[in-house]
Amino acid sequence: TLKLGLIGHPVKHSLSPWIHHQFMKQAGIEGEYHLYSIEPEVFEDKISKLLESGINGFNITVPYKQRIIPFLDELDPDAEKIGAVNTAVYKDGKWIGYNTDGAGYVRALKQVLPADSSTQRVLMLGAGGAARGIYRALVTEGFSYVDIANRTREKAEQLLQLQEPETVTEILTFAEAEEQIKKYDIIIHTTSVGMSPADNEQIVSLSGLKPNAVVSDIVYKPIETKLLRSAKEQEATIHHGHSMLLYQAQYAFEIWSGKQIIIGDLLDRLEQKVTEA
Ligand code: ATR
Repeated sequence: TLKLGLIGHPVKHSLSPWIHHQFMKQAGIEGEYHLYSIEPEVFEDKISKLLESGINGFNITVPYKQRIIPFLDELDPDAEKIGAVNTAVYKDGKWIGYNTDGAGYVRALKQVLPADSSTQRVLMLGAGGAARGIYRALVTEGFSYVDIANRTREKAEQLLQLQEPETVTEILTFAEAEEQIKKYDIIIHTTSVGMSPADNEQIVSLSGLKPNAVVSDIVYKPIETKLLRSAKEQEATIHHGHSMLLYQAQYAFEIWSGKQIIIGDLLDRLEQKVTEA
């Protein structure tokens, strides 16, 4: 049996066990996916024990995506550049760390983009941990124009270390982004503004947006953020955050099992789970 799990704090409300059980069922693999909530004071001790417990792989979430790194034997080059790991696999006697968040996000986004979208203009709002992985995945997937707007300019500038030679990136304030909003084909929101259901703030106004633009929010609770509602009013294509959750899991499951997973109706079923929870 495949022994998997999620490490973080807190992890109680995670939908990952449900997702990975669906994948196991589809792949015809017997397995388990447990939740490990680890208190910060005992992290080192608990991790050392878990790594030797016979577990085959695990996901790692907030607040430990950096803190796990010294415990791993090798890092995938992108995970190393991003500086954060969300997936680890035990292979040939070694623990190897990956970051499937950004790559999973771009896989999910591509489901709503035209076939060749690499020359489309992308605006990323936010430059935190999630944005780092997404920016890296966008540039490795060949997106050539990816601008970043963030409250703290220096944080956005740090993302430039993840550029590829062909990437063109301008660093903007939110006001500047708003002024030139009509030039973007794809807008990706990654800040924590609007994350709590009661928080009705919106980071930039979308007024004047291209009618066929794609607006994506990585927040999935609420499933439809204020930004997405306002994008709908502008007749944009909207892209919900729960798809990132599903596609980063798909990529992680491929790493653990070597099996390709078909998303099929899982996206709709996950949306239902998110709405019910
Ligand atoms: P995550 O891992 O979810 O990306 P993070 O690394 O804490 O979380 O990043 C949070 C992002 O939300 C950052 O871009 C942060 O902006 P700063 O770099 O200026 O801190 C952004 N953010 C959080 N609260 C914000 C607010 N009230 N207004 C604007 N941006 C905000």
